[in-house]
Amino acid sequence: MTELPIPVIAIDGPTASGKGTVASLVAEKLGFHYLDSGALYRLVALASEKEAIDTQNGQKLGLLAQKLVISFEKGQIILNGEVVTETIRTESIGLRASAIAIHPEVREALVGVQQDFRKAPGLVADGRDMASVIFPDASLKIFLTATAAARAERRYKQLIAKGISAKLDVLLQDLQERDARDSSRGAAPLLIAPGAQVLDTSELSIDQAVKIVLDWYQSKPA
Ligand code: DC
Repeated sequence: MTELPIPVIAIDGPTASGKGTVASLVAEKLGFHYLDSGALYRLVALASEKEAIDTQNGQKLGLLAQKLVISFEKGQIILNGEVVTETIRTESIGLRASAIAIHPEVREALVGVQQDFRKAPGLVADGRDMASVIFPDASLKIFLTATAAARAERRYKQLIAKGISAKLDVLLQDLQERDARDSSRGAAPLLIAPGAQVLDTSELSIDQAVKIVLDWYQSKPA
C-alpha cells in the first residue's frame, strides 16, 4: 500500500495580509504544525545586520543563512542561542528581510529548513512561495490578500496597540515598497500559484477567514 503524503496547506500573500494569524489558527484547529517562513528571512536579516553584511552581497548572505542555528520552541524563536521572537518583528527587519530575500543563494539555503517542517499529521505554511516552490504538491493552495489600505490600517492598529508610535502614510508607503520588491524579484516572486484559491480578507474578520480556509480544506477530496 502506498502511503499518502503528509498534507500541507500553503498560504501565500503580501505583507500584513493577515496570513500569519489565519495560518496559525487554522493549524491550531486542525492540530497541524505551523511554519512562518517569513520568520526565517527575518532571522537572516537580523543576523546579517549584526554581522554588518551588505544586503546586496548574495553570496555572503547565502553562506550566513546556511550556518544559522534556528529553533522554534514553545512560541519562542531562538537564533544562535538567543531569544529573538520580538526583535525580528520590527518594520526595519521586515524591510531588510525583503531586501535579502531577493538572492537565490539565501532562498536555496532555506529550502530544506522549510521542508523539514512537514511532519505528521500535517502542516500549514505561510509565506510568499509556499505553493509555488517549497510545497508545490500542497493539498490546498491559498493566496490570501487584502487591499493595501486595509493592510496598512491593520498594521497601524497592531503597532499602536503595542504602544509603538506609527504613521499610517509611512506604513502604507513601506508596505507598497515591500509588495513591489517581493512581486518583481526574479527568484520565487510573490504570485498567485497555479491552482491557488484567492481569499480577499479586506472585509472579513479573522474568524471568518479561518472558517473559509477550513471549509475549503474539508471540502477537498482526500
Ligand atoms: O511575511 P513576512 O512579512 O514576515 O516576511 C518578511 C519578508 O521575507 C518578506 O517581505 C519577503 C520575505 N519572504 C520571502 O521572500 N519568502 C517567504 N516565503 C517569506 C518571506
